[in-house]
Amino acid sequence: MNTPELGLPMPVPAAGLPTHVRIHEVGARDGLQNEKATVPTAVKAEFIRRLAGTGLTTIEATSFVHPKWVPQLADAEDLYPQISDLPVSLPVLVPNERGLDRALALGARRVAVFASATESFAKANLNRTVDESLAMFEPVVSRAKGEGDVHVRGYLSMCFGDPWEGPVPVPQVVRVCRALLDMGCDELSLGDTIGVATPGQVTALLAALTEAGVPVSALGVHFHDTYGQALANTLAALQQGVSTVDASAGGLGGCPFAKSATGNLATEDLVWMLRGLGIDTGVDLGRLVATSVWMAAHLGRPSPSRTVRALSHQES
Ligand code: HMG
Ligand code: MG
Repeated sequence: MNTPELGLPMPVPAAGLPTHVRIHEVGARDGLQNEKATVPTAVKAEFIRRLAGTGLTTIEATSFVHPKWVPQLADAEDLYPQISDLPVSLPVLVPNERGLDRALALGARRVAVFASATESFAKANLNRTVDESLAMFEPVVSRAKGEGDVHVRGYLSMCFGDPWEGPVPVPQVVRVCRALLDMGCDELSLGDTIGVATPGQVTALLAALTEAGVPVSALGVHFHDTYGQALANTLAALQQGVSTVDASAGGLGGCPFAKSATGNLATEDLVWMLRGLGIDTGVDLGRLVATSVWMAAHLGRPSPSRTVRALSHQES
């Protein structure tokens, strides 16, 4: 019989779910890009080291974007060499060839381009139309693949709802997903940037992508938790065979170019659910909670993660 460990849920597997989930940790990038006060580089490096010590294997580190657009991550050149010795994957965001050059110069082996399913967000985030941004990514992806087989993730934002355009039609999302894959991206991450999706929408989008020939093994999900739907949406995605899930330690996150975006799905909440379902992640929940409590002290406010609060007795 399965016995629960103290501070961990009782493992009771459910049918039809993957046996292993890879967590793509985005706290240091999606989380810290949205902080009002810029976090010192040494604190970011220590945060990433502590995350690596929890058993997380993919830790998105920073972005090589225009420093004026995202001043919070303007220290990418200083930060990356401080963590590049860690035995984990450290993906970085690169919007264009200039960003790719900066990342490759520091030895990055995993990069991510980031597209939008909507014109409004493409303009706000990249100063380009959707098609202009795809044209900007094309040489990034071909050079990354050509020059040393760097792994390329393609993010797709506003897959479900957009703050300017409202609900996003599924075919619009499928078109940009196809374009990113056809360009050579190794995997896609489907973003609910403003956290408005509900599980039926997730199931419908994944079904449409399968119909369009997109293999589920190439898909990850990236849910922000604005309306408290991120965990339910994740379960819907797992039921469709998705086994890569983005999450942010302590529930940090948001997007400076979409005001209605709040924090990502908290990694601790995800790990709690997956442990309960008997799904292996390799993550030590106690260490992860301690890391988020440590980070919350640096940021000056408690973590919004329910699991962090429950396991740390943090003051709210
Ligand atoms: P632009 O102003 O159109 O840039 O910005 P440009 O191409 O016209 O170039 C203007 C100047 O910027 C040039 O310098 C370039 O060299 C320089 P100048 O010749 O005038 O001296 N420049 C750069 N410098 C450093 N690094 C670079 C770079 N690129 C150009 N990479 C640009 C276009 C794409 C650069 C800008 O819009 C940008 O940096 N955007 C980034 C926005 C961003 O980081 N958003 C947050 C991440 S996305 C997200 O959070 C969503 C996600 O989490 C998923 C989800 O939740 O949905 C991923
Ligand atoms: Mg995001």
